[in-house]
Amino acid sequence: MAVEPFDVVDLIRTKRDKGVLTTEQITWLVDAYTRGYVADEQMSAMTMAIFLNGMERTEIRDLTLAMIATGETLSFDGLGKPTTDKHSTGGVGDKITLPLAPLVASFGVAVPQLSGRGLGHTGGTLDKLESIPGWRAKLSNDEFYAQLKSVGAVICAAGSGLAPADGKLYALRDITGTVEAIPLIASSIMSKKIAEGTAALVLDVKFGSGAFMQDPARSRELAETMVQLGKDAGTKTVALLTNMNVPLGLAIGNANEVRESVEVLAGGGPADVVELTIALAREMLALAGQPDADVEAALKDGRAMDTWRAMIAAQGGDPDAALPAPRESQVVTADADGVLAAQAALPFGIAAWRLGAGRARKEDPVHHAAGIDLHAKPGDRVTKGQPLFTMHTDEPARFERALEALEGAYRIGDTADDVGPLIAGRVD
Ligand code: URA
Repeated sequence: MAVEPFDVVDLIRTKRDKGVLTTEQITWLVDAYTRGYVADEQMSAMTMAIFLNGMERTEIRDLTLAMIATGETLSFDGLGKPTTDKHSTGGVGDKITLPLAPLVASFGVAVPQLSGRGLGHTGGTLDKLESIPGWRAKLSNDEFYAQLKSVGAVICAAGSGLAPADGKLYALRDITGTVEAIPLIASSIMSKKIAEGTAALVLDVKFGSGAFMQDPARSRELAETMVQLGKDAGTKTVALLTNMNVPLGLAIGNANEVRESVEVLAGGGPADVVELTIALAREMLALAGQPDADVEAALKDGRAMDTWRAMIAAQGGDPDAALPAPRESQVVTADADGVLAAQAALPFGIAAWRLGAGRARKEDPVHHAAGIDLHAKPGDRVTKGQPLFTMHTDEPARFERALEALEGAYRIGDTADDVGPLIAGRVD
């Protein structure tokens, strides 16, 4: 049996006492954990020490590279077109990937979008797309490359082969209260994105009540850390800091988010969804060498829609099929005249989740027609009795729990609360 070069307890002590781990120590630690030599309880102690004491930039880079080294890496060198990808840290009503990937691909840029499923109150891109009859999330490597070549846009399930250390570590963090450590989040996200092999990456780092990270200063620190990691690995990386205090768009769920994305691709859709889609598309296209691309024109003249239809059809979906309809709906109306002053993202996300749009455990199914359609956004004038939002579910017993989540989540007043701009900053 090979002799292990380090003692994990020494490494834990180093981090516990605010020391710095070497490249060799980190590379060994991640590998030894992935192959089961370092035990979960030892890694738990290590992640807690990292959570409490942080990591140097060099350590975060080493951790990211070590996680990449535990799995396969993809390469798009033979594709003959530039590649660019986007990652969002997740939010309520965040369906931007759906219109964005075909929009960017309509400019001849390949968008390999390996996505996940939702857990908790933020929805998963694959769950949304699976509301389209026939659409398939799982592609073979050959299908993936062929679609990237022909259509340009692919949104599909990430295989477990990319940075497998991250899957194991993330599950451990989830049950040990160590998810919210910036070095661990940044290395987790970037290891998968760098292993995926995209030449350029735009990050949508969210802050606010419906985001993973509420504080704008912490989300900026996360964005800076990830942008640096991308650059260190040779991936052109830019981040936008975006506001998640209010749900994005008017649809929160799965099928209804697909419907709203198609509206954007048809040149319409809610102003905030359009603004963010365009801003991210511009960043992606600039990194791919097209800084002057007329993104709005591609939404208005049907080019982005044509790519959407081809992308859905290539994965077995019928872009013309009716989307699933809910069995039951319940409308909530305004109880006074005035202005919709507040609409907090997190409770709306939780309510949609309780209606069946999200899952509590990895193995749970989602209800594709469940969710919430908003009829007013903060700042809109409303009159007593006017519908504010409609809840949809397949199981009416869920309405009560959803309404509980929404208590105090919206308010009618004289003026809207100031939650700040949608796009609050940029890191490059
Ligand atoms: N998403 C990830 O992939 N990893 C994290 O640590 C947090 C969000």
